[in-house]
Amino acid sequence: MTDDSATGTTLPPDLTLELHHVGIVVGDLEAAVARYVALGFRAAGREVVTDQGVEVAAFHAPPGYVELISPLDPDGAIGRFHAKRGDGLHHAAYRVADLAAALDRLAAAGVRLIDREPRVGLHGWRVAFIHPEACAGVLTELVEL
Ligand code: CO
Repeated sequence: MTDDSATGTTLPPDLTLELHHVGIVVGDLEAAVARYVALGFRAAGREVVTDQGVEVAAFHAPPGYVELISPLDPDGAIGRFHAKRGDGLHHAAYRVADLAAALDRLAAAGVRLIDREPRVGLHGWRVAFIHPEACAGVLTELVEL
């Protein structure tokens, strides 16, 4: 068990959340990639995810990543998000060792979940989303590698 003396919360290690990536929506992927390279980030890969209607450019930000997510389909979830809100933070993602157990714990605690069961996300990771309402306004993703 880990003990966080600041909050008094105690979680088993398999439920600990580790910062994994932040997802940032951008309309112009080439321009955003150039900006992040200029900031000093090193590219970690790029891929088109057809079924989600996006292209993603990832950068190393140890121990995690920054993902620039650009809509290819204006009617997809990311396309609609970008049309409404423009460039900016889309979600923060935290790694857990046991996603199903983490979801059980959160559901039992009454946390508003978007996904009650793990599903396959980008890169084939097992993911689940928590509603922004439960996370101070930020869409939050849990990732199990
Ligand atoms: Co993500």
